Order: sequence, then structure tokens, then C-alpha cells
Amino acid sequence: DKGNYRHFMAKEIHEQPEVIAHTIAHYADLAERRVDIPNLAVDLASLERVTLCGCGTAFYAGLVAKYWFEQYARLPVEIDVASEFRYREAPLPENGLAIFISQSGETADTLAGLRYCREQRQHIASIVNVQHSSIARESDVVLPTLAGPEIGVASTKAFTCQLAVLACLAIAAGKARGHIDDALEHELVGALVELPRLISRVLREEQGFADIAHQLSHAQDMLYLGRGVNYPLALEGALKLKEISYIHAEGFAAGELKHGAIALIDENVPVVVIAPPGRTHEKTMSNMQEVAARGGKIVLLTGESGGAPDCEVMADCRLPDVHEFVSPILYALPVQLLAYHTAVWRGTDVDQPRNLAKSVTVE
Ligand code: M6R
Repeated sequence: DKGNYRHFMAKEIHEQPEVIAHTIAHYADLAERRVDIPNLAVDLASLERVTLCGCGTAFYAGLVAKYWFEQYARLPVEIDVASEFRYREAPLPENGLAIFISQSGETADTLAGLRYCREQRQHIASIVNVQHSSIARESDVVLPTLAGPEIGVASTKAFTCQLAVLACLAIAAGKARGHIDDALEHELVGALVELPRLISRVLREEQGFADIAHQLSHAQDMLYLGRGVNYPLALEGALKLKEISYIHAEGFAAGELKHGAIALIDENVPVVVIAPPGRTHEKTMSNMQEVAARGGKIVLLTGESGGAPDCEVMADCRLPDVHEFVSPILYALPVQLLAYHTAVWRGTDVDQPRNLAKSVTVE
């Protein structure tokens, strides 16, 4: 039931404050601001490596988590799309944890990757939204996302809930390995706890994103730029736009653009720049200027405290300031809203885009 919404995707975007809060509450003690991962029968302290695996949007959630595990838990991470990983014959360490990320729990390649890791004697964890699924059944530990049923083919609330679970897991790993003390744990869990309220604030600005999307809906090609923990959001933004609006889009690491793709930029190419305030903000802003200088039409996504752009921009979107750690979860919202409204303006079948299925059970 779509309720008062025109599409399941819109409903699912709007459910995020609630389902993220619900998911975080499952993996953290909110009053104490501590993480607590139920049933995780894995010794995070002695792990050699984490292997992350998934497809599409679930893979991008893993890509964000790679930054988190490395930075906060000093834990080496291997990550690949399942369709490559399963055939690579990757050597895996004795004491490794493999995490499979899947909304449906039925994606054939992800399941095959899981079986490979089982043969390689890894601990198997899965982050799934459908708890009675093949991937869940074959895992040693199931870490559910509590997003509720996701009907729209474009993954939205499952993605942000996957990120919420992975964030809690990264904090738990950092703690177990002695890289996160009590104060930092409080700070990071506090940042997670704040998210639902901040996401609601972004949702109240929906009309602004719909107006920008009207301009984007005439584009033939678009680029998304991000850095660090928000680089995967650029990939996710491009995927979301492609799958529902059928506009060609690519995501790039902002610093990589000048190594080739900048040649694509002209006045017909909108470029979404994901640049929350924080460590990589200045560098991303200077990449944005390089794009603007070549005529690219900039849609800047940054925070209230991010400095004013010193180049011409088509749109300057200000999100609430947020802890850098959880910025990919907050910045998923404008990325989803831009894709959704662009598709609505173009009149495509948002919930059932052509050539796609909700769950990809063929290899
Ligand atoms: O069910 P899964 O999470 O395993 O699905 C993986 C991908 O097929 C999925 O995320 C796909 O990329 C979405 N349609 C993206 O919105």
C-alpha cells in the first residue's frame, strides 16, 4: 500500500527517519550511547581481515563501510562486486570475517560469493532485509536491516539501513581492537542517534530538490563527484539516476576526474558535487571549480557550515551539519530525492523501471 504517496519509492524515502532509528536501536544502546551487536559470535579483536561483498547499491554500502573499518577499526578490508568476487579465487586469511550485503537475500552472485567464503573457512555474516532468505539461511550470523518491505526496484531505505548496521559494526570493531575509547564511542553513537531528526529536516526541503530535478530532467548525461567516505555516494547517485530516469550518469572520485573524465564536461552536463564539510571538503570544492571553469552546471550538496562556492553554481543545497562519520547516510537523501524527482519529471515508471527486477536471482 502506497499510502498517500504516488510511488513506493517516495514512501520508502520518507520512511527512512523511522526505519533508521529502529535499526540503530537494534545495534546500540541509545541511552548509554554504546554499540551492542546481538549474537555476533565473532572475535572482532583478533580478525585478520574483513571481506565485503554485494551487488549494486548493496555493494556501495560496503564501499562506504570499507572507509569506516579502515579509519575507525584499523581493519584491512577487501571488497568487490559479487559477480567478480565469486570467480576471482581470492586468497582469504585463516581468521577472516566475510560480510554479505543484500536487501533481498536472494541475489544469485552474492550467494555464490558467500559459498566461496564458506569453502575458504571464513566467518560468514550477512546484512539482509529479508530475514527468511537464502543468504540469511547460509550465514553464521544474520544482522538484519529493519527497513520493512522494500517494494520500489530502486533501493533507498534498505541502503541507509545497511549503512546504519555497518556503522555500528565498525564502531564495535574499533572498540574491540582498541582504536575507539569510551568518549569516541559516545561521540559516534551520538552522531547516529541524531540522524533520524536530521533526515526529517532534509525531507522537509523536498520541494527544493524537485525544482532542481526539473532542470536536470532535460540532461542527457550527468556526473556525480565525491571524495573519501562520500565517494561511494557519487556512485550510488549515478546508479539511482540511471536506473529510474534512464539518464546516462557516472560517479567519480572527485580527484580522479582530471585523469580523463573532465574531457566530458561542457555546458550541457550537470555535475552533482557531494561535498559535506570535513576533511576532504576543500579539495572537493577545488575540483568543483575545475568543473565550473569548463562550463559544467554544478549542483552542490554541502552543509550549512560549508563555505560559499567561489564559482557559479546552478544550485547550492545546504544540508544540516552532521558528524563526518555519518555524512554518507544523510547525503543519501538528496541523492535519492534528485533521482526520484528527475524520473517523475520524465514520466518514467519509477517503481518498475524497464529491464530491471527487484531481486536478481539469475547469474
Ligand atoms: O537484493 P540485493 O540488495 O542483493 O540487490 C542488489 C542489487 O540488485 C540492487 O541494490 C540494485 O542495484 C538496486 N536496484 C539499486 O537501486
